[in-house]
Amino acid sequence: MRIAVTGGAGFIGSHTVVALANAGHHPIIIDDFRNSKPFIVGRLESLCKGKPSFHEADCNDRDKMAGIFEKEQPEGIIHFAAYKAVGESVREPLKYYRNNVGSLLNVLELQRQFGIPYFVFSSSCTVYGVPDELPVTETSPVKKAQSPYGFTKQVGEQILFDLQKAASESAKSVILRYFNPIGAHPSGLIGELPLGEPENLVPYITQTAAGIREQLTIFGKDYETPDGTAIRDYIHVMDLAEAHVRAIDWLAEKRSEAGTEVFNLGAGSGSSVKEVVETFEDVSGLKLNYRYGPRRPGDVPAIYANADKALKILGWAVQRKLSDALRDAWNWQQQLQKLPV
Ligand code: UD1
Repeated sequence: MRIAVTGGAGFIGSHTVVALANAGHHPIIIDDFRNSKPFIVGRLESLCKGKPSFHEADCNDRDKMAGIFEKEQPEGIIHFAAYKAVGESVREPLKYYRNNVGSLLNVLELQRQFGIPYFVFSSSCTVYGVPDELPVTETSPVKKAQSPYGFTKQVGEQILFDLQKAASESAKSVILRYFNPIGAHPSGLIGELPLGEPENLVPYITQTAAGIREQLTIFGKDYETPDGTAIRDYIHVMDLAEAHVRAIDWLAEKRSEAGTEVFNLGAGSGSSVKEVVETFEDVSGLKLNYRYGPRRPGDVPAIYANADKALKILGWAVQRKLSDALRDAWNWQQQLQKLPV
C-alpha cells in the first residue's frame, strides 16, 4: 500500500518508514524538518527497499497537503507529525494546540476528501495520567491531562472516537498509545535528534556519555518503587515501528468493519531510571556521571503497559530488550558525533 507518513523524518516516523518499506509498502514521507534534519531522508533512502517519496510540508498547510495527496494517492495515513515535549507544552500551550490539533484536523479532513480508508494515530500512555492499577490496559480510565501536550493526545483520540460515532463514518482508525520509545536503528544511520537540551531520559544519558552534557540528574529517589526511582515501560523504536506496519495491515485485512481500535504499545514490564542507567553502563562499558535531584513536576511514579491486546489482535509483541535499545541508542549517538553538522 501507499502510506502517507506525516512526521516521517522524525524519530518514530523515520523508523516506521523503514519498517513499512521493508514490509513491501511504499512510504510517502511528509515532514518540514522542524524536529529533524534533511540528511535523515537520504539515510532513509539507503535503508529502505525501494525509494520512498518525500515532500517537505507543514501539515497545517492545507493546500500544500491537498496537492501532495492528489499527486501521491495514499491508501493509508500514519499521522506522527506533532510536538511532544511536556515541559515546553506547559510554557507554550498555543503552539501545541495549533500544531498537534490543527494538523490532525487538516489530515482527517483530507482523508475524507480523498477517500483514504486507513488511519493510524500516534497517542501516548500519558492519557492514563497517574494510573490506579498497573499494568494499564486499554480500558483503564483516561485521567485529567497533566499538560497541554497530554491534552492534545486526549483530544486527538476523542476526535477519532467522535468520527467513529458519526453515522456516515466508514473510515477505520487505529490509536496507538506508545509507552517510552527509545533506541535507534541498529545501523546507527537514523535515531532521535533532540533539539537543544533533551527532556527525555535516554538522549540525556547518551549525550552525557558523549560529553555533550556534564551530568545526568535522576529526578527523584523517594518514589514508592523498589529502588526509589520512577518506573517506565521502555520500548525499542524498531519494535514500535513494526507495530505500525501490523496496524496498517490489520486495518486493510478487516476491510468490512468500520471503527476505531486502541492499542497499548509497550514491553509489558517496567524499568526504573536507575536500572536504565545501570544497563546503559553495562552495554557501553562507561561510568555515567549522574546525581539525584528532586522529582520532576508532573511525573508519575510508575507506569507500564499490559500489551496483550496488541498481541491478540495485531499479533505483535516486543522482540528487543532494554539492553538492545540502549546499545543502539549509544551507537547512534556515537555516529552522530562524526557528522559535520
Ligand atoms: C513523557 C511523557 C510521554 C511522552 C514522552 C515523550 C508523561 C507522563 N509522559 O514521558 O507521554 O510521550 O515524554 O516526550 O507526560 N528522567 C530523569 N532525568 C532526566 C530525564 C528523565 O531522571 O534528565 C526520568 C523521568 O523523571 C522519568 C523517566 O526518566 O521518570 C522517563 O522520562 P522521559 O524520558 O522524559 O519520559 P516520560 O516523562 O516518561
